[in-house]
Amino acid sequence: MLERLFKKPIDLKVNFIEFSKKHSAKNQSQTNEVFSEKWSKSHNQDNLDELYKFQYEWYLELYGFNSEKDLKNYLSRKKVIFDAGCGLGYKAQWFAKLAPHAIVIGMDYSEAAKIASVKYRDIKNLYFIQGDIADTGFKDSVVDYVSCDQVIMHTEDPEKTFSHLSKITSSHGEFSCYVYRKKALPRELVDDYFRKETHNFSNDQLWELSSQLTKLGKTLSELKTKIDVPDIPLLGIKGGEYDIQRFIYWNFLKCFWKEDWGEKLSDSTNFDWYSPSNAKRYSKDEFLKMVTDNNLKVIHFHEEEACYSGRFSIK
Ligand SMILES: C[S@@+](CC[C@H](N)C(=O)[O-])C[C@H]1O[C@@H](n2cnc3c(N)ncnc32)[C@H](O)[C@@H]1O
Repeated sequence: MLERLFKKPIDLKVNFIEFSKKHSAKNQSQTNEVFSEKWSKSHNQDNLDELYKFQYEWYLELYGFNSEKDLKNYLSRKKVIFDAGCGLGYKAQWFAKLAPHAIVIGMDYSEAAKIASVKYRDIKNLYFIQGDIADTGFKDSVVDYVSCDQVIMHTEDPEKTFSHLSKITSSHGEFSCYVYRKKALPRELVDDYFRKETHNFSNDQLWELSSQLTKLGKTLSELKTKIDVPDIPLLGIKGGEYDIQRFIYWNFLKCFWKEDWGEKLSDSTNFDWYSPSNAKRYSKDEFLKMVTDNNLKVIHFHEEEACYSGRFSIK
């Protein structure tokens, strides 16, 4: 069953296939390395359940499902489900449990795919592949639900990846996708500058930086101070009342801190932001252009400060 989805013969070892670990582009290789580092450090952290619970609830909101039951009902009509850029595979395993009749495949370029295959090897309808979601090896139109959550902007050429994922989506299927949203100008400039600088840092330095950003976020947030900010449209800064940590976070520097996640998970969220070389941000028009360029129809569209997301079908 799995074999017939691919253009070439596959070498399945239990529930795992290794396509390629290397990419010719320097930025994609660096991105893979830092995600491998992040996932190997964080896959057995204590409070992952908190993170997963938050992520599942957020997923429903991002892609327009009213509840987990609604998602289960939606997936009951899908035979092949693909989690493109699955990280540690917790969403792929969620889909596999909600849709036991379906084949679920998670793919990630980093070592996370291997870690996920070991962790979830008892789930019979779930497979993992280490490879590039810009070139999945799937035949055209074979996947009934492609989910690309919080990933595409980390790929070497997100527009090309988007076209590829649209192509493998079946004619009656859907493709859901999330992109980072462009933020205020000072934050965008710092982010870009920072990302170039961080390429020269070792992993230890990146973790140190992430922990310092967590501490800054925590300190600012503990001030519990609100400020009134004027509109500064030329810098893209929206006026209004802000908590001071949120104001700095959205407009100048990502210094993530979430009390109920604690320091380790906050550190890895900060690591996630500044470490990968590939992390493109989009305006709403730029995101929607990818949708129309690929002849897709919008089924659901969502926007919030951090991102745009949606569910799309073939016209
Ligand atoms: C922010 S994480 C999101 C992981 C997961 N979707 C989640 O929501 O937890 C981004 C993931 O994209 C993966 N990634 C980046 N570029 C990729 C590519 N070209 N092909 C496959 N995975 C890629 C990274 O290895 C990383 O695991």
